[in-house]
Amino acid sequence: MKIIVTGGAGFIGSHIVDACLRAGHDIEIIDNLSTGSSENIPRDITVHRIDIRDVLAVAEIFKTFQPDAVCHQAAQLSVSRSVREPLLDADINCLGLLSVLDAAVATDCKRMVFASSGGVLYGDVTEPALETAPANPLSPYGITKWAGEKYLNFFAREHGLTSVALRYSNVFGPRQNPHGEAGVVAIFCKQFLNGHAAHINGDGKYVRDYVYGPDVAAANLAAIELSKASFASEKVVSLNIGTGIGTDVNELEEKLRTHIGLLRECAGERKILPGPEHGPERVGDLRSNLLDASLASNVLGWKPTHSLDEGLEATSHWFFEKK
Ligand SMILES: NC(=O)c1ccc[n+]([C@@H]2O[C@H](COP(=O)([O-])OP(=O)(O)OC[C@H]3O[C@@H](n4cnc5c(N)ncnc54)[C@H](O)[C@@H]3O)[C@@H](O)[C@H]2O)c1
Repeated sequence: MKIIVTGGAGFIGSHIVDACLRAGHDIEIIDNLSTGSSENIPRDITVHRIDIRDVLAVAEIFKTFQPDAVCHQAAQLSVSRSVREPLLDADINCLGLLSVLDAAVATDCKRMVFASSGGVLYGDVTEPALETAPANPLSPYGITKWAGEKYLNFFAREHGLTSVALRYSNVFGPRQNPHGEAGVVAIFCKQFLNGHAAHINGDGKYVRDYVYGPDVAAANLAAIELSKASFASEKVVSLNIGTGIGTDVNELEEKLRTHIGLLRECAGERKILPGPEHGPERVGDLRSNLLDASLASNVLGWKPTHSLDEGLEATSHWFFEKK
């Protein structure tokens, strides 16, 4: 299949590109490299360095490449930036999405896979949430992800574009950007590799469902390849992508400190990593968020294949090698 991956130079997008290439698909990437990097992708892949809001350029890329599917990862993904700059957030996450959807239907592209978010849709939940849980996004980022899913419904009804919205939990893994506000695993890795203590907000008893990036990429590949016959009459399916297993930030810090401590020791670094430093709470942080991905297992045959420890070990190695 011919597939366009928007945001393909980013953390999750680049793992999707790898998975698609391994499956023998033909890939082109649209990415403005605002948070992504060309280091994340193989050299021989075509990367169109443009903004998804550039309607004419996006249309031209679709027209020339004639993709069978588009996997849309490009987004403004900072919750706090969305609060500060809701206009910018909507510009990238709504108008950017519409630019891609318009180009897709104009070229008879058959499938859209959309990166949505379980965390921002379901809010505080102590039991793994199902897709039927009421969506109540509070931040502009959450609102634009929810609106994105509604746009998929419209394009399916109006143009027959079959779409899959994948509602990710907290994704982590190699290539995650440690300079953002999310991505606690990447941030802690960076702090430990600099020999610093991890900085934990509040008491650290914030429970999250951590899912490994390459597992999320496998879900995207399955959604791209899903047969049209698998869709019900509404032609859009929303699926949670997570593990259903909760881990709080304190446990996560301890696990990562152990992994990176061992790597440092093997490299002859004798200094023991200091324990965590707790700062003030971050206003608005959810206490608990977990996803039930049994529907994704039924529809896509997808299950996460990496345990948290396996993922953390691989991620620690990657950051260590890159240091
Ligand atoms: N990381 C998570 O835990 C998580 C959770 C839920 C949903 N998501 C969603 O998954 C997707 C990928 O996130 P990620 O963690 O890989 O982030 P990322 O920042 O690594 O990737 C986003 C990519 O999109 C590109 N991009 C951003 N704005 C663009 C624009 N206007 N035009 C063209 N390219 C643009 C960036 O350069 C980057 O390569 C996003 O849609 C995000 O909202 C991520």
